[in-house]
Amino acid sequence: MHLFDLLEKSLLSCEIEDKIQSVNLIKNSIKHLTGHTGYWESDDSGILDIDQAGIPKNLQLVPPNQVKKRSYVSVEGYAALLHSICHIEFNAINLALDAAYRFRLLPKKFTFDWLKVAFEEVYHFSLMRERLQELGFDYGDFEAHNNLWDMAYKTSYDPLVRMALVPRVLEARGLDVTPAMQKKIAQKKDFKTCEVLEIIYHDEVGHVKIGNYWYQHLANQRGLDAIELFKQLISRYELFICKGYVNKEARYEAGFSELELNLLEVFEKSLEPQQQWKFALSRTK
Ligand SMILES: [Fe+2]
Repeated sequence: MHLFDLLEKSLLSCEIEDKIQSVNLIKNSIKHLTGHTGYWESDDSGILDIDQAGIPKNLQLVPPNQVKKRSYVSVEGYAALLHSICHIEFNAINLALDAAYRFRLLPKKFTFDWLKVAFEEVYHFSLMRERLQELGFDYGDFEAHNNLWDMAYKTSYDPLVRMALVPRVLEARGLDVTPAMQKKIAQKKDFKTCEVLEIIYHDEVGHVKIGNYWYQHLANQRGLDAIELFKQLISRYELFICKGYVNKEARYEAGFSELELNLLEVFEKSLEPQQQWKFALSRTK
């Protein structure tokens, strides 16, 4: 089977086990078939417009303010918290598959990079799902919002915009919030979940780095100023990119520049983004 057909199948799979199996099939077939040009060759004629990637049929999508309250205290609230991480990881599988599937005319390295991300996201999802199952719940038992996939859909017309707003904004947010979450979970003495979060955190630095690399590469290729473009994009898409702490250390490791990190910090405190960007730029000159 052709790589992009396999990717399409994986992306559209709604059953959890089916999706995991078909991603693993890609992982195994790639080892044997990378030398076969037929496995890779493709044009963009068969690419589907996917308004919703496959998610479990029983998973109810609701607006973000209707998602069940998470808590570190009650069992159900804690399960809702772990479920929200499972949901992020399941979405992350779809996001990585979609990048590899949709932007197939980019160099093979792009496809490889996002496949590697998809393989790691399957691992993250499986680990976190196990933690949820130990509490007596499973993925699909709680309601979830669709912000991540919505952004993938909105940016499906251009890999540069996708790289700018999905890995660099939404996925990078995970780097900011994970350390504090780990601390609270450690206080609860759920060390197994802490270990899973450590694996996720470590790998996510690499995923954001891949997003940063391709964002910069595509911007350079088009002769665009990457920072100026980023500012325009985040105001156009009205993203709440930095509510709270910005993990400068992890983001620096993930390929953000000093200038961008200063901008992000100022932006976070800002109610008037445009003015604050100008302020940050003048500060860093
Ligand atoms: Fe992940």
